[in-house]
Amino acid sequence: MASAYKIQEHTFDMVVVGAGGAGLRATFGLAQKGLKTACITKVFPTRSHTVAAQGGVAAALGNMGEDDWRYHFFDTIKGSDWLGDQDAIEYMCREAIPAIIELEHQGVPFSRTEDGKIYQRPFGGMTTRFGEGPPAQRTCAAADRTGHAILHTLYQQSLAHDAQFFIEYFALDLIMDEQGACRGVLALDMAEGTLHLFKAQGTVLATGGYGRAYFSATSAHTCTGDGGGMALRAGLGLQDMEFVQFHPTGIYGAGCLITEGVRGEGGILRNSNGERFMERYAPSVKDLAPRDMVSRSMTIEIREGRGVGEHKDHILLDLTHLGPEVIHEKLPGIAESARIFAGVDVEKQPIPVIPTVHYNMGGIPTNYHGEVVQLRNGNPDEVVPGLYAIGEAACVSVHGANRLGSNSLLDLVVFGRAVANRAAETIKPNGAQAKLASDACDKSLARLDKLRNASGGTPTAVIRDKMQRTMQADAAVFRTGETLAEGVAKMREIHASFADVKVTDRSLVWNSDLIETFELSNLLDQALVTIVSAENRKESRGAHAREDFPDRDDANWQKHTLCSVDEAGNTSIDYRPVHMYTLSGDVDVIPPKKRVY
Ligand code: FUM
Repeated sequence: MASAYKIQEHTFDMVVVGAGGAGLRATFGLAQKGLKTACITKVFPTRSHTVAAQGGVAAALGNMGEDDWRYHFFDTIKGSDWLGDQDAIEYMCREAIPAIIELEHQGVPFSRTEDGKIYQRPFGGMTTRFGEGPPAQRTCAAADRTGHAILHTLYQQSLAHDAQFFIEYFALDLIMDEQGACRGVLALDMAEGTLHLFKAQGTVLATGGYGRAYFSATSAHTCTGDGGGMALRAGLGLQDMEFVQFHPTGIYGAGCLITEGVRGEGGILRNSNGERFMERYAPSVKDLAPRDMVSRSMTIEIREGRGVGEHKDHILLDLTHLGPEVIHEKLPGIAESARIFAGVDVEKQPIPVIPTVHYNMGGIPTNYHGEVVQLRNGNPDEVVPGLYAIGEAACVSVHGANRLGSNSLLDLVVFGRAVANRAAETIKPNGAQAKLASDACDKSLARLDKLRNASGGTPTAVIRDKMQRTMQADAAVFRTGETLAEGVAKMREIHASFADVKVTDRSLVWNSDLIETFELSNLLDQALVTIVSAENRKESRGAHAREDFPDRDDANWQKHTLCSVDEAGNTSIDYRPVHMYTLSGDVDVIPPKKRVY
């Protein structure tokens, strides 16, 4: 069977899978360092989901008031509810400054202050003086289209540095050798229906998150966690998957993002009494509390009968007091989204919003160089040779149990850059690559053949719908042992039902039925691992809020979950310690304390 499929081989020093912010920053950085680099991507680069990022990118530039990268370090640790690795957080917050200046020099059209500096707005959980001072204006913005601005610049840089792009190629599987090293990736050219083996000294997974495991998400339909799916099939464990971020302000009904930048510019959340209820939950920072807290507060308001609308099931985001000038200059994109998706004129009416799945804190575990790590032979930080992961696909872990808004675009550029720097130190341009075993691609080809010819009784869309509804209901903002156990049982059944999947189109050319089936397979594995990890973690921390275990339990649970799944759907769980150390003496470890704002 396998020989029925012809494979074209390509040899590169590095292959990057994914062309969002992280993938492109890595791609041009690697090419700039003299490494022969391929970037393979299932969508045209400037259509990657980074294009949808709105509010901005955090860096303690201090352009609009007092700031220091050490304050950013403190806020990120506190935001992570002490699950973030402090060495990696130090790296990210310190490197944020040169990484953003670099973007500015490369041409990102940031909004400007009167004196020409990069404009910075307040964002949730970003403070000064180690949480004791006023909110920090730390989030660098290009109006409310910052991701768009960054993505286009990074693509231009990649072209300028002669990286080679393979566009509309879908990555099927990692090619691992007998020693457990990654030797490249097998991909399908969706337009031509041809198969391509990319052999490389290093493979970088920059495939984004898996938001589409849920029914309502701000994530694009392309966010199907293809890298995480490939890592699981390669036998690797994914880290901290129970931590799924709900963004407080998705448009009610449509799920589209309304940036936290709205609250950064002064927007206010109100309940059915017109009350600014966040004053009760986070008296000092109010609407600019971190996302996990705001999402929980909104959910409580709705549960206690103070939601708005016919079903009293959502909340209002009021920006009518900001005035047309602020809206036109700083928030033009969300004014358009609110008009199209909610039928609202934001100058006159509030926007109906609801917490909506937005980001995966969990992912493929890495160190701060972007090298994938696993717990092996008693070593929790053992590097998987030849494999890297960055961006939302990865779990560095800089976000721990809850990411602060605007630390995601930052994570993309800082760790995209870090991978390029690491590869430049460790990989020889044009270095020899050992021959691959003749059957290296057989398993992946057999899976391709099986799915392409799948003639079960259940269409892909039916299984996907069940998965999305189950995750939405049972792995929600608030969780209980009961709903999680129910959710695990349902997800195991749904996962098993994939054996009965039905693919109608047998072609390899633009077979969207087949591609959606591959994507579903990636989502199913990650949905299962997510809900199993959530049931297992018996405490509340960050975005994982268990009503049956309402407190954080550092003695037993200040550790990273590692969860893997085999082909039969059997899951197994292990743990890695949280890095409670820093990289330099420039900053002290922040010990856990009560997280109040
Ligand atoms: O609200 C926002 O603009 C989203 C930013 C982020 O997720 O970092």
